[in-house]
Amino acid sequence: MNLADKIRTIPDFPKEGIAFKDITTLLKDPAAYKEAINRIAKRYEDKDIDLVLGIEARGFLIGAPLALKLDKGFVPVRKEGKLPGDVVKTEYDLEYGSNIIEIHKDAIEQGAKILIVDDLLATGGTVKATVDLVEQLGGEVVEIAFLMELGFLDGREKIGDYEVFSLIIDE
Ligand code: PRP
Repeated sequence: MNLADKIRTIPDFPKEGIAFKDITTLLKDPAAYKEAINRIAKRYEDKDIDLVLGIEARGFLIGAPLALKLDKGFVPVRKEGKLPGDVVKTEYDLEYGSNIIEIHKDAIEQGAKILIVDDLLATGGTVKATVDLVEQLGGEVVEIAFLMELGFLDGREKIGDYEVFSLIIDE
């Protein structure tokens, strides 16, 4: 199955000049959604991972089913003001605008092996900010997994020296 064909591109959303990758078409197709999660899970079946971290909001749609499939706990990385407990937070720039994200301080134990998951790697700002928070809490980033990567934005360079896996790469 060609999963790239299941993701549609919407021009000029949310701003002029941005070609938005819309994964709702993949999610709506149960065979494609299952196939995507299974393919990502395959890579991590035998890896030493304690927790799967998903980034709000679209990262939850990939991270949560992946965590269940791998039989690991799931930790949400949320936008500012949503998590009720004590948090660590950071601000970062997006392809369009800026954001603040937070993680519960007690969600990650010292030395916990973390798989970070998001739907899309664009400029890399979101995931780099997430890596910084995980490390602030003493977690170890084992790998970072995406459903899709926009290769032409060079997000990998921003992320730096971490293992990055993308199921679909749009050059
Ligand atoms: C999108 C996407 C990634 C991020 C990628 O999320 O889901 O998290 O942007 O961009 P970057 O690599 O340039 O940082 P968005 O902030 O639009 O939020 P959403 O998931 O809540 O829609």
